[in-house]
Amino acid sequence: MDGALADTADVPVGSALIITELQLVVTQPVAGEFFAYSAVCPHQGCLVREVREDTIVCPCHGSEFQLDGNVQRGPARRGLNPLAIRIEGTSIIPA
Ligand code: FES
Repeated sequence: MDGALADTADVPVGSALIITELQLVVTQPVAGEFFAYSAVCPHQGCLVREVREDTIVCPCHGSEFQLDGNVQRGPARRGLNPLAIRIEGTSIIPA
């Protein structure tokens, strides 16, 4: 697990895990497919903090993001910034 961001089992299928201390969101839209994004909201820089099923929510002004990082509801106009990751065994590692 050295250098791992998270374990694949920690990320719910069809939802996301927010790792606040790393300012990171890891999503698993379908089983076995993982994506990572910066948790810094592209609106004004708050950290997204909440996951409601398949929606990632910023507490500051209510922007919502899909599991692919795209904006679902503003005021954010850009999606979450993607981060490259790879899976090694059950570890999610920065690529
Ligand atoms: S900083 Fe996230 S909605 Fe404004």
